[in-house]
Amino acid sequence: MNSSTDRVTICSTRQELYSAAANEIVSRADESIATTGRFILALSGGSTPRALFQLLASSAFRNRVDWLRVHFFWGDERWVAADHPDSNYRMAREALLMPLAIPEENVHRIATELETPDQAAANYESMIRNFFGVATGTVPRFDLILLGLGDDGHTASLFPHSPALEEQRDLVVANFVEKFKTYRITFTPLLINEAASVLFVISGSAKSDALKEVLKGEYRPKLFPSQLIQPTNGELRFLVDRDAAALL
Ligand code: 6PG
Repeated sequence: MNSSTDRVTICSTRQELYSAAANEIVSRADESIATTGRFILALSGGSTPRALFQLLASSAFRNRVDWLRVHFFWGDERWVAADHPDSNYRMAREALLMPLAIPEENVHRIATELETPDQAAANYESMIRNFFGVATGTVPRFDLILLGLGDDGHTASLFPHSPALEEQRDLVVANFVEKFKTYRITFTPLLINEAASVLFVISGSAKSDALKEVLKGEYRPKLFPSQLIQPTNGELRFLVDRDAAALL
């Protein structure tokens, strides 16, 4: 059983949440492929999306998308090797890309093997620009960007009080995250807010405080960076389960 406001859908269980998210992705993919011949998707990281990716690769969904027309990017990545247990790419490769036999040319990961986080961010930005065929000054438009919500209100790797929150020019930056004492590579709000559709998928009571603040609290984006996500000409949706929505 789901209940919706204009942009928030509350699902009764995690299973319903993942099913709703998978259906949303499938319908977005169908729409984009019918219009442009391809679907340009940025995946979120962390633990929440693993079960979603596994569901998309399952017999219930795998035949509902022409996956050869789907291009996979990442909204953020940890500063670790591609085969590291914490790698968002590795998680997606195991849960989605390998089970669906996605061809390499459709997989556009962040090159964390480069010398520095800044080089990896710059490399990814030029990869994105080349893929979309856009020069500096134009912001490319992803068909769909998946996002998660941290219990501190972050999304992608846009953490509270981190330098990336102020970025007004670049599409992808290396962002030093104080709480982890390490770098992350992340889409900036500038790039995320250009997307045709942004979908938050949020599960669990640990997110309930942050979600209440993001959706109903005072506008304090330095504290709750997910508030920066306001697509300029695109759709913003929150798919949440009942535990995450407990304080709404
Ligand atoms: C990451 C993510 C991050 C994630 C949130 C929620 O690299 O960790 O991109 O933004 O979506 O931290 O993570 P969980 O799903 O693990 O709670």
